[in-house]
Amino acid sequence: MLDTKKTIFSGMQPSGMVTLGNYLGALNNWTKLQDEYNCLYCIVDMHAITVRQDPAKLRKQAKELLMQYIAVGLDPEKNIIYYQSHVPQHAELSWVLNCYTYMGELSRMTQFKEKSQRHAENINSGLFTYPVLMAADILLYQADLVPVGEDQRQHLEITRDIAERFNGIYGDVFTMPEPYIGKVGARIMALQDPTRKMSKSDENKNNTIALLDEPAVIMNKIKRAVTDSDNEIRFGEDKPGISNLLSIYCAVTGKTPAQAEAEFANTSYGAFKVAVGEAVVANLEPIQKKVKELEKNQDYMDSVIRSGAEKASRIAEKTLRKVHKKVGFPPRIK
Ligand code: TYM
Repeated sequence: MLDTKKTIFSGMQPSGMVTLGNYLGALNNWTKLQDEYNCLYCIVDMHAITVRQDPAKLRKQAKELLMQYIAVGLDPEKNIIYYQSHVPQHAELSWVLNCYTYMGELSRMTQFKEKSQRHAENINSGLFTYPVLMAADILLYQADLVPVGEDQRQHLEITRDIAERFNGIYGDVFTMPEPYIGKVGARIMALQDPTRKMSKSDENKNNTIALLDEPAVIMNKIKRAVTDSDNEIRFGEDKPGISNLLSIYCAVTGKTPAQAEAEFANTSYGAFKVAVGEAVVANLEPIQKKVKELEKNQDYMDSVIRSGAEKASRIAEKTLRKVHKKVGFPPRIK
């Protein structure tokens, strides 16, 4: 029977502890899509080395990320879950696409500007061409949809521009991917500075909640989150701290913004924070338990790693061959 399901691709960098932002903006949506779509979820370790990483730590974080993918509910039987560095076609397609991407468009990327400010001592060309590798990730699998948080929107736009340019020259080689950005949780902010997004590479750990933080740590971080001086619990641009906590609450409980505002209409900030903290803890506890089980089952993890890379590579190779032919590389002789 013909497989008529659409394809989804997304990825996450193993560049730190997975945060509540990663979970609510991305992972949590991925699990909802696994029955309806053919999904590939990658651990983008090649993207991670665009900033300096400690090798042992990177390896550990990649493995932890894989376990967290599974622990949040991604079933390796239904989804292709794998490490980017295990599928060489990503780098190969990226090279070709580099030749169809302009310096001008890459230098306009917000993430490049931000990261090159933060890592002024290491503005390497991988950081510059990061979006091209990301385009290769997505286009290799002819993905229709890419579920990401709001901060990745610009990367999706350049992916579409590159695909369109390539298709314009060679015919319909790539499927045009669409971003899939959830309504709630698409932009979780730093707890101590709610005008900035929560980021796994943040040095100040009070800004982030890690998926694997202990319950007491989570409660503490939320209690200390920056709010404001009036006592109203409502969404508002003038109330970034409270709005952020309300967004977190809605995302973990599934309640609407109006429901959450009504629930906390006559509540103090202190009691509100306790309620948010407890809701987060309740949501994360089963995930943490599952990670602990997976840690004990290395054989199973190894089988997921092996079969994920094999399945991804088979699909990727088809696109890569087509691209090589289109651009004029000589055919391989069997
Ligand atoms: P990364 O690793 O920074 O983040 C992984 C996912 O988490 C989302 N996210 C957030 N969502 C809500 N609030 C936040 N504070 C927050 N912080 C992060 C991100 O939007 C993302 O969906 N470039 C990508 C990785 C990547 C990729 C890809 C994604 C590489 N290739 C192909 C999709 C398709 C990144 O750095 O994500």
